[in-house]
Amino acid sequence: MSVTVLKLGGSVITNKDRADTLDGETLGHVADAISDAAVHDLVLVHGGGSFGHHHANEHNVSKTTGSRDIEAVIDIHGAMKTLNEFVLSRLHDRGISAVPVHPFSVAVRDADASLTLPTGQIETMLDEGFVPVLHGDVVAHEGEGVTVVSGDELVVSVASHLDADRVGFCSTVPGVLDEADEVIPEITTYESVADVLGESESTDVTGGMAGKVRSLLELGAPASIFGPDDVSAFLADENPGTRIHG
Ligand code: IPE
Repeated sequence: MSVTVLKLGGSVITNKDRADTLDGETLGHVADAISDAAVHDLVLVHGGGSFGHHHANEHNVSKTTGSRDIEAVIDIHGAMKTLNEFVLSRLHDRGISAVPVHPFSVAVRDADASLTLPTGQIETMLDEGFVPVLHGDVVAHEGEGVTVVSGDELVVSVASHLDADRVGFCSTVPGVLDEADEVIPEITTYESVADVLGESESTDVTGGMAGKVRSLLELGAPASIFGPDDVSAFLADENPGTRIHG
């Protein structure tokens, strides 16, 4: 099986400045590109954008700070399920057999915060011709209640379990940018780009670009970061944006 994992960044498919607001136009374009490419064995993962991050911030829940407050749990998980339904329906409109996989129901973090995500159901969904659509979520976390799991973590986990051949991140930027705002075509070590990325100081509860590059360097397969206009190129086996391999 030659698996492709594609993450749709939350900022791409939502309007990050307004809580619970979809960027329906960009989501539509991305869904068109996915439908036109018709690749087999595609796993989609989407981020939280103004749905997940807004609610996680409100309840002070992050990847490391947990909560046992049922209102917080249901609020964050519910917002992500709502966004997931929007994504699914745009895909269904284009004839894609997209099905939801809610990480809260299947994944877990142990006391060391390491994530376990079973993938047997995802493999069978692929074998049966479905397109599983995962999303950033909350997960039960030993000793913490629940914490946030980012789409990036899910991509890394799914891609390594399924031995993915291609891993792509559709972001709002056309790739990782250098000081002159030019796309860096290739990254093989964190040190080589540490100055440009700095430490993430955005309000993003899951770490922004620095965190993304770090986690992708740990991945066995090469990964690409590119903008919404390059989804077609990525799915056509090209290497748009920045290619990251450790
Ligand atoms: C965040 O997922 C999920 C929640 C905050 C619940 P991501 O970290 O993958 O989201 P984006 O892509 O940065 O918006």
